[in-house]
Amino acid sequence: MKELANKVAFVTGAASGIGLGIATALAQVGVKVMLADIEKAALDKAVESLKRTNAAVDGIVADVSLRGALEEATAKTIERFGKVHILVNNAGIGGEGLFEHTTPSGWDWVLGVNLMSVINGFQIFVPLMREHGEGGHIVSTASMAGVITAPNAQYQVTKHGVVALSESVRGELGQQGIGVSVLCPGFIRTNILDFARNVPSRYQGKTNARPFGQWQANDAVAAERLSFMQKRINEGIDPLYVGDLVREGIEDDVLYIFTDTEFEPLFDARVAEIKKGFDRIRSRKPRH
Ligand SMILES: NC(=O)c1ccc[n+]([C@@H]2O[C@H](COP(=O)([O-])OP(=O)(O)OC[C@H]3O[C@@H](n4cnc5c(N)ncnc54)[C@H](O)[C@@H]3O)[C@@H](O)[C@H]2O)c1
Repeated sequence: MKELANKVAFVTGAASGIGLGIATALAQVGVKVMLADIEKAALDKAVESLKRTNAAVDGIVADVSLRGALEEATAKTIERFGKVHILVNNAGIGGEGLFEHTTPSGWDWVLGVNLMSVINGFQIFVPLMREHGEGGHIVSTASMAGVITAPNAQYQVTKHGVVALSESVRGELGQQGIGVSVLCPGFIRTNILDFARNVPSRYQGKTNARPFGQWQANDAVAAERLSFMQKRINEGIDPLYVGDLVREGIEDDVLYIFTDTEFEPLFDARVAEIKKGFDRIRSRKPRH
C-alpha cells in the first residue's frame, strides 16, 4: 500500500510501547488512527498527546481477547472514520514463564490476547476491507520468539501461531488486494515485562502472572531470566523506530518485518536442528 495519507488504521495495544510507536509513525504520515487498548488511563494520555501533533486519532477501550469487544470496537471505528484500511494486531502479554508455572487460566489468557485476538482481527476486518475495495494491509506483532524457540512456552506457542497464520494467509489475501506482514521485534524498550498489570478481572488470582521482581521470592531460575530480560528491554530499541519500520513494511508489502539481526544465529541454529531430523531420516538404515 503505497499511499498511506488519509487511510484509516486500527491499532491494538496502542496505549504503550510498540503499538504507540506504530500509531505515532502512521499518524505522522497522515493516517487516521483508532488506538485500541485495555488500559483507559494510558490510552487517554496517548490519544491526547498525539492530538497535540495535529494527528487525526481517537481511542477506544477494549479487551481485544474477547471477540465481542473487538467487534464492538470495530463498529465504533467504522462509525468514527468510515472504513479501515490498515489493521495492526499488536496487543500482547508475556506469559507465565517456565512450563511448571503455567496454569489453565494463564493459558486461556495468553492464547486469548496473543493469538485469538489476531485470528479474530483477521476474521472481522478482512470482509470489511474486501467490501470497501480500496485495498488493505494487516500487520501482526509476533516476536523473535515466533521464529526461534526458547523457554516460556505460552509466549512461544502464540508467537509461532501468529507467524504461521500470517504466512499461511498472505497468498490468499494478496490476491484480494490485502497485504499481510508479521512484525518480529527483538528487544524493544517498552512496558512488556509489567504485563501483569493487564490481567482481566475474570482471571484475577487464577494465574501466575506477577509483576517483574516478584518471582525472586520463589524461583531463582525464573528470577535470573527475568532480570536479564529487564536489562535488555531497558536498553532496547526505540519503539518509534519500530513504528517507522512497520510503516515502511506496509508501503513495501514486506512479509517479515525484523527490527535487528541479534537473533539470526539462533534462527540458524534452529534450522540446523530441524535439518538434522531430515538428515537422520535420509540416512536411516533398514532394521532388517
Ligand atoms: N518489547 C519487546 O521487546 C517485544 C519483543 C517482541 C515482541 N513484542 C510484542 O510487542 C507487542 C506490544 O508489546 P510492547 O512490548 O509494546 O508492550 P507494552 O506492555 O508496552 O504494550 C502492550 C499494550 O497492549 C495492551 N494490552 C494488553 N492486553 C490487552 C488486551 N487484552 N486488550 C487490549 N490491549 C491489551 C497493554 O495495555 C499495552 O498498552 C506484544 O505483542 C509483544 O508480545 C515485544
